[in-house]
Formats: sequence, structure tokens, C-alpha cells
Amino acid sequence: MESTISVAVIVLCVSVGVCSSGSQPNIIFIVADDLGWNDVGFHNPTMITPNIDALADSGVIFNQSYVLPVCSPSRTAFMTGIYPFKAGTQHFVIWKAQPVCVPLNFTFLPQYLKALGYSTHAIGKWHLGFCNWNCTPTFRGFDTYFGYYQAFEDYYTHEMDGYLDYRDNTDVVRNATGEYSAFRFAREAVDIINNHDKSKPFFMYLPFQSVHAPIEVPQQYEDMYPDVVNIGRRKFCGMVTALDEAVGNITRALQGQDVFDNTLIFFTADNGAELVQYGNNWPLRGGKHTLWEGGTRAVAFAHGAGITRTGYTYNGMFHAVDYVPTILAAAGGKPDASIDGVSQWDSIRMGLPSKRTEFIYNLDDFFYPVTGHAAIRVGDMKLVDGYPGLYDNWYLPMNDTEDTPLEDFIFDQRHEMVWLFNLTADPLEKYNLASQMPGVVETLRARMLEYKKQMVPANFPREDPKGDPTNFGGAWTPGWC
Ligand SMILES: *[C@@H]1O[C@H](CO)[C@@H](O)[C@H](O)[C@H]1NC(C)=O
Ligand SMILES: *[C@@H]1O[C@H](CO)[C@@H](O)[C@H](O)[C@H]1NC(C)=O
Ligand SMILES: *[C@@H]1O[C@H](CO)[C@@H](O)[C@H](O)[C@H]1NC(C)=O
Ligand SMILES: *[C@@H]1O[C@H](CO)[C@@H](O)[C@H](O)[C@H]1NC(C)=O
Ligand SMILES: *[C@@H]1O[C@H](CO)[C@@H](O)[C@H](O)[C@H]1NC(C)=O
Ligand SMILES: *[C@@H]1O[C@H](CO)[C@@H](O)[C@H](O)[C@H]1NC(C)=O
Repeated sequence: MESTISVAVIVLCVSVGVCSSGSQPNIIFIVADDLGWNDVGFHNPTMITPNIDALADSGVIFNQSYVLPVCSPSRTAFMTGIYPFKAGTQHFVIWKAQPVCVPLNFTFLPQYLKALGYSTHAIGKWHLGFCNWNCTPTFRGFDTYFGYYQAFEDYYTHEMDGYLDYRDNTDVVRNATGEYSAFRFAREAVDIINNHDKSKPFFMYLPFQSVHAPIEVPQQYEDMYPDVVNIGRRKFCGMVTALDEAVGNITRALQGQDVFDNTLIFFTADNGAELVQYGNNWPLRGGKHTLWEGGTRAVAFAHGAGITRTGYTYNGMFHAVDYVPTILAAAGGKPDASIDGVSQWDSIRMGLPSKRTEFIYNLDDFFYPVTGHAAIRVGDMKLVDGYPGLYDNWYLPMNDTEDTPLEDFIFDQRHEMVWLFNLTADPLEKYNLASQMPGVVETLRARMLEYKKQMVPANFPREDPKGDPTNFGGAWTPGWC
């Protein structure tokens, strides 16, 4: 498989003549975990994110950039450019001992980039399966990896359920207890930048642990938000600011090595904020786990090398599957034409209309026995068909109250299960047009059924006791599927 990719890419390089390293930017793809629409300074001035804001404001802010409602599906799309409903990862996050990973015949972004001459590095959360070594970053195209395989863990002990999950390439890191992960990940990134071989470009995939639960941050960041009364929200805001400082340190390292201008940065959330963990998507509806805009319309921007129109908001439709072809286009390559992503490189860098006119939010029969869990956007219109997910409302940041009003979050099952919105007129999803426009409902449903023909069943088996870390010296370790 590697060799087929290389041949295709070499042919392309020769025919287009773009493979000299001088014209290839370094590329950094930053993913923030569970960061909500209203959790960054460039959307909400009460958040302290000067480094992120500076990059966004002098780059291109994505206004309609969509991801999947939870983590593993979004990351499947980021790495493959293919919808997760074709990989079997559409249902939910991969649980800790599920013998599952993204199928091994799917090509990952760093595999394409290596064939284009890039060195490739991943730092942070993987969460695309690890039961077999072949599922893990250094076997899927990354030259180096530092991070953890699971969904979440303690930011200081790097343990999930009491077992270590922290790796330097394939080795367990046993001596990093006590250091907050954002500091370590930033330092690893800075080390790579400072020591990279300048004769070839680098690609760095940087999926931070921040700002997923558990809600933990060094005191000094929490203290930056004295006016936020709610302790959880105050710590959460501090977590965002620690993430911002990490981004600032990386930016400064690029400047220090004089490669800032030749580096292209993409930044995105993997899904909307987890409402019960103090994140916020105001004014959008819903949150993480839902097909509402609050779960799927991501904070995102691009900055840097190759972008000729800067300091504007890109209102074009963009989907998580578009990162692969967009990044490859910036690097002078092209993915397999069969993937779902479309390159938006020219649109973004020159401020032209988006080449995307529709996308699938998700397709998952398994989610809800009766109705499924599916949504599609075509042009202005969005159809939600089935269970939209747990949180159904519009939520202000929990900054003025002490309590977490959990009961307010839960989806009211008495709803009818079909919604149609005109997102251009109604981006907050307040007016269900389904009964007024039955013809549009049928058109979008028919379109969705076309996609459904390509759906594979969700691969969501029981957890396997063979994955128990006690079988592997007390660390979450591959080798049991
Ligand atoms: C992977 O293999 C499966 C099963 O043979 C096939 O259906 C699918 O199309 C392949 N996917 C890719 C991206 O190659
Ligand atoms: C942790 O262990 C690694 C590998 O043995 C070593 O290189 C590093 O210096 C150690 N770090 C600390 C803080 O002891
Ligand atoms: C950023 O760099 C400074 C200076 O080295 C360091 O003190 C700080 O902890 C770093 N912050 C993060 C979030 O990595
Ligand atoms: C709390 O949130 C509200 C609504 O977004 C905002 O107006 C207010 O400034 C926030 N207060 C603080 C202290 O962040
Ligand atoms: C961004 O999207 C909102 C709808 O949520 C819209 O009102 C606004 O005009 C868009 N911004 C730009 C610059 O297109
Ligand atoms: C959606 O709303 C926009 C703005 O009001 C309008 O221009 C457009 O025609 C509407 N689209 C459809 C399909 O009704």
C-alpha cells in the first residue's frame, strides 16, 4: 500500500513540479478537545486567549466548519478524509477496552504526507484505537509520537482508571507524573520545531488533551478569571488559557527558528463543548453528543504560509473530512479521489466560494433503536432525522451560578423526531420547518439515503478483558486484538 501511494505522489510531483521542499510549508494541525463555540476570545471577549486570537485574526476564521458530534468519529475524518460511517466508527467514542480501531486499509494523512517528503509527528490524544500495534500512530504514518491512546485521563498522573497511558513513541513514560499535559505537549512540539531538519518540511498533528474533562488546571490559570463565580467554569476557562499559552509557546518557537512564515497552521475543535463539563456553545443549540450546531459547528481557523487573503472570516461550508485534501493541496499533493473530503485550499487562501455544497453530520442506525441518528446539510437546509442527542437547548455559560443544573440538559423524548432548518436564515435552529416544507424534507431524506448505501455497520463490540492493563504491567498497551 505504501508503495502505491508513493508512486502516485511521485507522478504528481513530476507532472505538477511542486515537490521541492522550498515550496512546501511546514504544517501544524492543532485539535482542541471539547472546546466550545463560545470558549475562545475571538468568539467571546471574556475568554483570555491572546495567542489563539492573534493567529485567527491574522489568518482565516472558519465560520461554517463542521465536525462530528464526538471525538473518535471526528478524528477518523481528520486522519482519513472519509466519513466515519464508512469506517464503522460512527457510533460513539471508542471505549477503553473495545477491540476496535480505524480499519487498517484506510490511509492516514501522515502516510500521504510522508510520500510527499514530510517528516511527520503526532503529539497528544490518539483515540483512534490501540488494541493492535498497527492501529497506533507510529504504525500509521507518524515518524514520532508522544501522547496517550485513550479518550481522556488525569492531566497530571496520565492515568485512566488508575492505569498509565502516556507514550514516547512506543515506550511507556513512567516518570512524567505531576506535569500538566499541556506543558509537556507544548515542550515536545517546541523540541521538534527547534531540532527539525530544515532540508525537509514537517507535519505536526497536535491533538491537545485540553480542554476535555477532568476539569484540572494549575491554579495560576484559574486565578485569571476572578469574576467567574462557578468554580467548574472558572477552572475550565483557565484550561483554555493554558492551552492558549501552549499555542503561544509553539508560535514563538516557530518565530525563533525563523520558520513561522513558512508554516501553515490549522486549528479546530473536535466537537462542541461538553455542557456538563463547563464548556459552552452559546448561542448555538445543544452541545457535544448532539447533531445540533452546538455539537458540530466547530471553532476553527487557518493561519500562515500560502494564504494570500488574510484577516477575514471564511463563510464557506467546510467539513472535517476536508482537512486531508486541503492539507495535501497545500503540501503539493493529492489524495485518492475516492475520499469524501474536497480540497478547500484555493477557496480558503484566496477567499473564494467553498467547493462544498452539502455534507453528512452523521449516520448511525445503531444509536437509537427506533429512529436512528442522522442529519444532512444541503445548501441552506439542514435535516435532522431521528434522535439528535442528549442536549436540546440553548445554554449560557455557567459563570454566574454555583450549581450545575444537570436536569436542564436532558433531551425531551416527547419531541417529534424530524427537524428541518434553514441555517442561513436560522443558524440557531429555532424554527422547525419540517411540517411547512415536506417536499424539502423528502428531497434531503432521499439524498441521505444515497449516502446510506455506503454505510457500514457501526463496529461497537463489548469491551474485551484481554485489554486490561494488568495484563501489560499496569499500562494501557496494544497487543490484544
Ligand atoms: C477497506 O476494506 C473494506 C473491506 O474490504 C472495503 O469495503 C473498504 O472499501 C476499504 N476501504 C478503504 C478506504 O480502502
Ligand atoms: C524520564 O525518562 C526518560 C527516559 O529514560 C529520560 O530521558 C528523561 O530524562 C526522564 N525524565 C525525568 C524528568 O526524569
Ligand atoms: C510556555 O513557555 C514558558 C517559558 O518556557 C513556560 O514557563 C510555560 O510553562 C510554557 N507554557 C505552556 C503552557 O507550555
Ligand atoms: C458570563 O456570561 C455572560 C453571558 O455570555 C456574559 O455576558 C458575562 O460577561 C459573563 N461573565 C463573566 C464574568 O465572564
Ligand atoms: C457567520 O455566521 C453567522 C451565522 O451564525 C452569520 O450571521 C455571520 O454573518 C457569518 N459571518 C460572516 C462573516 O459571514
Ligand atoms: C433560506 O433563507 C435565506 C435567507 O433568508 C433565503 O435567501 C433562502 O432562499 C432560504 N432557502 C430556502 C431553500 O428556503
